[in-house]
Amino acid sequence: MKTFEIKTKVVFGEDALGYLTTLKDQKVFIVTDPFMVKSGMIERITSKLTTGNYEIFQDVVPDPPMELVVEGVSKVTAYRPDAVVALGGGSAIDAAKAIMNFSKKAANLMDMEFIAIPTTSGTGSEVTNFAVITDKQKGVKYPLVSSELLPQVAILEPELVRSLPSAIVADTGMDVLTHAVEAYVSTKATDFSDALAEKAVTLVFEYLLRSYQSSDDIEAKEKMHAASCLAGMAFNEASLGLNHAIAHNIGGKLHIPHGRTNAILLPYVMEYNSKMEGYNPRTYTYAAKRYAKLAKLCGIQGATTRTLVKGFISEIQRLEREMKMPSSIKECGVKEEVYLENKKEIAQGALLDACMDTNPREATLSDVLEILHQIR
Ligand SMILES: NC(=O)c1ccc[n+]([C@@H]2O[C@H](COP(=O)([O-])OP(=O)(O)OC[C@H]3O[C@@H](n4cnc5c(N)ncnc54)[C@H](O)[C@@H]3O)[C@@H](O)[C@H]2O)c1
Ligand SMILES: [Fe+2]
Repeated sequence: MKTFEIKTKVVFGEDALGYLTTLKDQKVFIVTDPFMVKSGMIERITSKLTTGNYEIFQDVVPDPPMELVVEGVSKVTAYRPDAVVALGGGSAIDAAKAIMNFSKKAANLMDMEFIAIPTTSGTGSEVTNFAVITDKQKGVKYPLVSSELLPQVAILEPELVRSLPSAIVADTGMDVLTHAVEAYVSTKATDFSDALAEKAVTLVFEYLLRSYQSSDDIEAKEKMHAASCLAGMAFNEASLGLNHAIAHNIGGKLHIPHGRTNAILLPYVMEYNSKMEGYNPRTYTYAAKRYAKLAKLCGIQGATTRTLVKGFISEIQRLEREMKMPSSIKECGVKEEVYLENKKEIAQGALLDACMDTNPREATLSDVLEILHQIR
């Protein structure tokens, strides 16, 4: 038996933030990062709430650590809000998810509403039951997975992503593409997750470069915001794969932005998963056929599965070059000796990551080490 569920209400379109007026007269706890407060973006939220009836927790940092979650839980349990609003990228939303979940149980706050407002078009965290929390001491990122982490409401307001620097547009946009591609070749993919992933991939190919090139291109911002949410819905059902399993472990140890790590890995992981050793169509793998299908949907030309997959990988590399993204770990500024020191632990951690379970090709330690060698 299989099931497909979308629990989160997605609010989008003109005056999406107007939804927050439903929180008038309620006590609201806002989880966000310092940029949102300094830039004044927070006022887009607080102006809809009752003055004096909200508290702002603005200490979120990229790759939120457990200590931050503990601090947030102690604030929420003392304040006892009616609702928690997460404003920010995946880091703020993930931190809020963990804070919500632990506070509900610790202080019997089971009726708290949870609203997520993404300000990056990347993680899709607003509609997923994942939260990635970092253990700073061990240098490991742990994906928490539970339907209790799902926000009740996600508000998609593309105006909020206009201030995103172009390099972060590129990183987070490639995270969207990786979510959709991994969900599509996942061993848990279904017709329902496929529909969401296919739409997300075609939107990325049509709008990511435009969004990167201009912060005023509000149509491109809106489409990428939708793509991020659709890809989130797809992988929430189908899960992810080898790419994210490795990226979580590189992120925990080397602190390269999540989407950038995914972007560097994606061409190599696709080569690995498609395993195209010869030219005989009968030997093409499930993953190769699935990548070829996506390639066709994106308008990539090719007479065979092989040429379509190769063409798809080249298009991804071209997109990354146009967005001036690094194509190796070295180009991210990590010293070779630091990378070599961490390589084995990264590979071992990847094999234990929950995302590995749904990768279309079962990877061994030496397979992962080879991919880590290729991206050095
Ligand atoms: N929960 C999930 O399903 C899921 C999926 C993928 C990744 N993740 C996790 O999410 C985190 C990454 O999230 P992210 O890529 O959205 O980045 P982020 O939340 O870490 O933010 C990156 C930077 O962008 C800044 N920023 C965010 N919005 C901005 C805006 N509108 N204008 C200007 N600056 C802005 C932030 O202040 C921060 O400095 C990682 O920890 C990753 O592991 C979670
Ligand atoms: Fe991701």
